[in-house]
Amino acid sequence: MKVLVTGGAGYIGSVVAQQLLDGGYDVVVLDDLSTGHRDAVPEGAAFEEVSLLDLDATGRVLAGGFDGVLHFAAKSLVGESMERPELYYRNNVCGTLNLLDAMRSQGCRRLVFSSTAATYGEPAQVPIREDAVTSPTNAYGATKLAIDAMISFECLAHGLGAASLRYFNVAGALGPRGERHAVETHLIPIVLQVALGQRDAVAVFGTDYPTPDGTAVRDYIHVQDLGRAHLLALEASRAGKHVIYNLGNGAGFSVREVVDVAREVTGHPIPARDAGRRAGDPSVLVAASDRIQQELGWQAEKTLQDMVADAWAFARSRQPAG
Ligand code: UFG
Repeated sequence: MKVLVTGGAGYIGSVVAQQLLDGGYDVVVLDDLSTGHRDAVPEGAAFEEVSLLDLDATGRVLAGGFDGVLHFAAKSLVGESMERPELYYRNNVCGTLNLLDAMRSQGCRRLVFSSTAATYGEPAQVPIREDAVTSPTNAYGATKLAIDAMISFECLAHGLGAASLRYFNVAGALGPRGERHAVETHLIPIVLQVALGQRDAVAVFGTDYPTPDGTAVRDYIHVQDLGRAHLLALEASRAGKHVIYNLGNGAGFSVREVVDVAREVTGHPIPARDAGRRAGDPSVLVAASDRIQQELGWQAEKTLQDMVADAWAFARSRQPAG
């Protein structure tokens, strides 16, 4: 099967591109390199430096003939999305509209889309099921929700077969492919920067949440487990149908628990400093992933220890020698 991976020079896209190659797929990566890295694109994948905002260029790539598209390309920083919502609507929504237009013109009938837990907003009930109310609290989540709706109607009207995978907190690495953000905001990479001596301490954002230790609880999922779900969803897609699956471990870990695991894994004391809550952070986000388990037989296999250990090996491998 020949597949196009948009955003395949980014963290999750590059991991999934590698897994697809390992699974015997023919892979082409499309990425504008605005946040991705050319050297993250796996050897064995063809590369097209193209922006989805360029409809003609996107159409030319799709004219290569694809059985399916895995669509990761997006702006994905919650904080930035609140400062520059227009950037998020243009890139994420207009970019995806162009992609759908090009897929339709070229008769490409399968799509797996990177959606997010941020589509739900502050949950009324935890764990969060796919039929929970969607009320995003930030522009990033709002753009992903708008795209989910666009995809549903595309399936109804034009017979696309699609899956939206709503990620919770993705962590870990696959060998040389891991998180490499210019400005890091995510907990696990930041904690590991402390262990590497690049920061003095990790700030714990909020210690007065209604959780067992007062810090916020999140559902961490290993990027390799997440990637496997994409391959299953691609194979299972059915014309005219749009399915939505939450992807998490189903278990929550607090910020303090994550820091403790990182201390164990790295052997570094990792000083933590209590700080105020970060604006817009819900107290608990945990996925109910029963739907994908039942319908596709997917299971998370990796533990939080595995995620931190793999992210740690990746972070150390990127340190200058010496
Ligand atoms: N945190 C800290 N200190 C830090 C960084 C993070 O205490 O230096 C805390 C956060 O406040 C939060 C938890 O660690 O409680 C996890 O934060 P991340 O930034 O790692 O992840 P988020 O849960 O904020 O974001 C994730 C995804 C987003 C997605 C969101 C859904 O990364 O893409 O879940 O709400 F939108």
